[in-house]
Amino acid sequence: MTESVEPILRVQGLRKTYGEGHTQVVAVDGADMTVDEGEFVALLGPSGSGKTTLISMIGGLLAPTSGTVGLGATEVTAMSRKELTRFRATQVGFVFQSANLVPFLTARENLLYVASLVGTPKKDAHARVDQLLEELGLADRAGNLPEQLSGGERQRVAIGRALMNDPDLVLVDEPTAALDTAMGRSVVELLQREIKSRGKTGIMVTHDLRMVEYTDRVFEILDGVLTHVERPSALEH
Ligand SMILES: Nc1ncnc2c1ncn2[C@@H]1O[C@H](COP(=O)(O)OP(=O)(O)O)[C@@H](O)[C@H]1O
Ligand SMILES: [Mg+2]
Repeated sequence: MTESVEPILRVQGLRKTYGEGHTQVVAVDGADMTVDEGEFVALLGPSGSGKTTLISMIGGLLAPTSGTVGLGATEVTAMSRKELTRFRATQVGFVFQSANLVPFLTARENLLYVASLVGTPKKDAHARVDQLLEELGLADRAGNLPEQLSGGERQRVAIGRALMNDPDLVLVDEPTAALDTAMGRSVVELLQREIKSRGKTGIMVTHDLRMVEYTDRVFEILDGVLTHVERPSALEH
């Protein structure tokens, strides 16, 4: 008999409404989703469909109106503010649409900074930065400030920063939106490779169907309603 393993990420009945009364917006309308350890999934949907709201709740950045999120042994939606801060710093890696690097810190220092937030010993942090920058093809860019890097290089630094504290979950929000196609592909390819080789679980928000091929499964969200799809509807034409 094979042992059944619980999925690492468990999202149940997750709902978020903004505002009240006749101006109320249902951004996420009762989402259910499970993702296994080591899986890299895509979250597709048009602008305004609820993608950012959904992954923000999953990553503990935004409190849901109702519903639950569990990651491993952690019940994300039951945590206090203080616990959430720690959770985001240690168990989740975020990569946003624009890299959001600290402008006055070099590539290397941007990575070291997030390690310092969780008290990683300096020696370990330095070794890890060197290894990550090497893997990301940024060894010779380590001393550059963000403004001295290309858009693709900045996104690679952001991926390194997201992986720095060895999170369980990597959440990526439209990483290729500001990049040309070739650059976008190489960034997503790298992301896939890092997630797979490190046994992370990843969710990537995108509205670029070409990026789906790098993922294991696809979810679609339309007007806040999440569904798991065999094939994204926009590919059926
Ligand atoms: N802070 C907010 N206050 C009010 N409405 C919001 C807020 N954030 C998002 N929304 C609304 O919620 C819906 C989903 O937004 P969002 O999650 O950003 O979608 P997506 O990332 O798919 O573009 C949209 O109608 C958006 O206008
Ligand atoms: Mg968004």
